[in-house]
Amino acid sequence: MAYETVTVERDGAVGIVTLSRPKVLNALNTQLMTELVDALQELDRDADVRCIALVGSDRAFAAGADITEMATAQPIDLLFQNRFARWDAIRSIAKPIVAGVSGFCLGGGCELAMLCDIIVASETAQFGQPEINLGIMPGAGGTQRLTRAVGKAKAMDMILSGRSLSAAEAESAGLVARVVAPEAWLEETLQLARTIASKSPVALRTAKASVLQAFDMTLAAGIDFERHAFYLLFASDDQKEGMQAFMEKRTPEFVGH
Ligand code: CAA
Repeated sequence: MAYETVTVERDGAVGIVTLSRPKVLNALNTQLMTELVDALQELDRDADVRCIALVGSDRAFAAGADITEMATAQPIDLLFQNRFARWDAIRSIAKPIVAGVSGFCLGGGCELAMLCDIIVASETAQFGQPEINLGIMPGAGGTQRLTRAVGKAKAMDMILSGRSLSAAEAESAGLVARVVAPEAWLEETLQLARTIASKSPVALRTAKASVLQAFDMTLAAGIDFERHAFYLLFASDDQKEGMQAFMEKRTPEFVGH
């Protein structure tokens, strides 16, 4: 499908989605969010794709929700438009999503990066929830996901003062998995996505689902979920292949079931 605000490419088993509204630092308007969800769902359905990379440009992952689109919004319109259903749809993507972040990653941009499973950042990345400067607050999960990622102290600092974290601070706070030099962020993101894509798709899917339960369940319920996911993997050909390949000292070839 032809999109105007995102591009979709395939690099082997990696699907690459690039946010592309460069004039407005990839501000997330309705068209972009609609196209993004469509592109991600298409890649999620494509059996040849095993991992998704979501990236922006050198200058910006995304500078937030599109302020010009929201400026005159009325609460009842927001209620009926239910824009956040698109965010829930991204949360439901079963394949791993690696976000590659360079430059501005603000507001809804930061919330979008946090919806992904792993964040790789350039040293230039800035993570923030500056909604307070607009007289609003984060609305796409920021108060919840940021607090879970970096803890109350830093989340309150960022959300109440609007202060951004540098990439180094974001890494030490636990928001970001890897920080690399400005010229390396895209390749590092794709390399990580390729590594993930070389694993068993069925194991990836259940491992991702299991880790996400850590945010929603009690420890006992989460452990129980994990155990059943673990048992399930022993029904897969990929488990047999992975263990056989280890014993034969060769690289496994995962077929995806
Ligand atoms: N929405 C709409 N347009 C935006 C935008 C946004 N979130 N962020 C940047 N732009 C536009 C600017 O208006 C500007 O357009 P023009 O060239 O037509 O004037 C263009 O992108 C380039 O931006 P700047 O000239 O401002 O670039 P800069 O380098 O001087 O500053 C910036 C960059 C600090 C990111 C600044 O643009 C900025 O503060 N942007 C807004 C960030 C923000 O408040 N994000 C939160 C949005 S609310 C939200 O996300 C709610 C939610 O939780 C869902």
